[in-house]
Amino acid sequence: MLSYQHSYHAGNHADILKHIILGDVVAGMQKKDTPMFMLDGFAGRGIYDLNAKDAQKKHEFDTGVARLWPIQEKKLPEGIQRWKALIESENPKGGFSRLPGSTAMLASMLRSTDRLAACDLHPQEFDALRQGFRAHRRFSFHKRDAYETLRAFLPPKEKRGLIFLDPSFEDKLEYQRVAEAIADIYPHFRAGVYVVWYPILPAGRESDLFRAFKKSEIRNILRIEMSGDFPDMQMQGSGMLIVNPPWHAQAQMKASLAWVHEHLLGKHGHSSIQWLVKE
Ligand SMILES: C[S@@+](CC[C@H](N)C(=O)[O-])C[C@H]1O[C@@H](n2cnc3c(N)ncnc32)[C@H](O)[C@@H]1O
Repeated sequence: MLSYQHSYHAGNHADILKHIILGDVVAGMQKKDTPMFMLDGFAGRGIYDLNAKDAQKKHEFDTGVARLWPIQEKKLPEGIQRWKALIESENPKGGFSRLPGSTAMLASMLRSTDRLAACDLHPQEFDALRQGFRAHRRFSFHKRDAYETLRAFLPPKEKRGLIFLDPSFEDKLEYQRVAEAIADIYPHFRAGVYVVWYPILPAGRESDLFRAFKKSEIRNILRIEMSGDFPDMQMQGSGMLIVNPPWHAQAQMKASLAWVHEHLLGKHGHSSIQWLVKE
């Protein structure tokens, strides 16, 4: 049963980290001209209306995008500039009430030779996703289980691919499951760049995710985290694991993380980039 709906949380501190770093990873991969495939396994609805009842209920964006907006600086890290421009393109009259999600970020970076597949199992989320974007030969939507699509879509014919997995972690077993799913598909697509987002919660279950990855044969995993003091929220931080991070993206991710930390948390909080596993 799918009960999680991202619209209650859209625009919070974790979304900011997630979408900016995702953009940096894609940009790093696109330093090469060769076509690539992108899979957004847990896509959500693509664009979130922060004026809608769901988002207004918790106002999680108050300590996220609202804390950063408006961004006046002229000189920004590339990843921040990309994310800001995307929000501006969705909100031509100003503000950030139409908040782009992961699929919107990936769609905005799709080149004429790339392909994007976006999946969500939730009927409402899937309908909103399909209505929000124009499907075409290079951009497809699937009401399918993300784990099943790994086997169905990989390896891609382009031989280069970004696989973004952003589960809701409603079930505590999901931490282990997502790592095992990547470990299972990895022998069939070793060149893939796999990105997993995870929450940092009091239960500390991200250690299950780390343990499962360390047990796998995968030896090139970067870990990015940011946490702080976010009042009235259980989730005090979040992180991303990036398997085979593109070399070109690493300096950009560092610059993006430093900017987000400074502007969201000031001198407080914690952020880090380190290898979870490195050969
Ligand atoms: C955290 S939200 C996605 C947010 C989105 N990636 C973003 O950043 O804008 C997780 C989504 O995964 C969907 N979902 C949960 N389990 C799924 C599964 N096994 N396969 C596909 N989608 C699933 C939920 O309906 C939900 O919309």
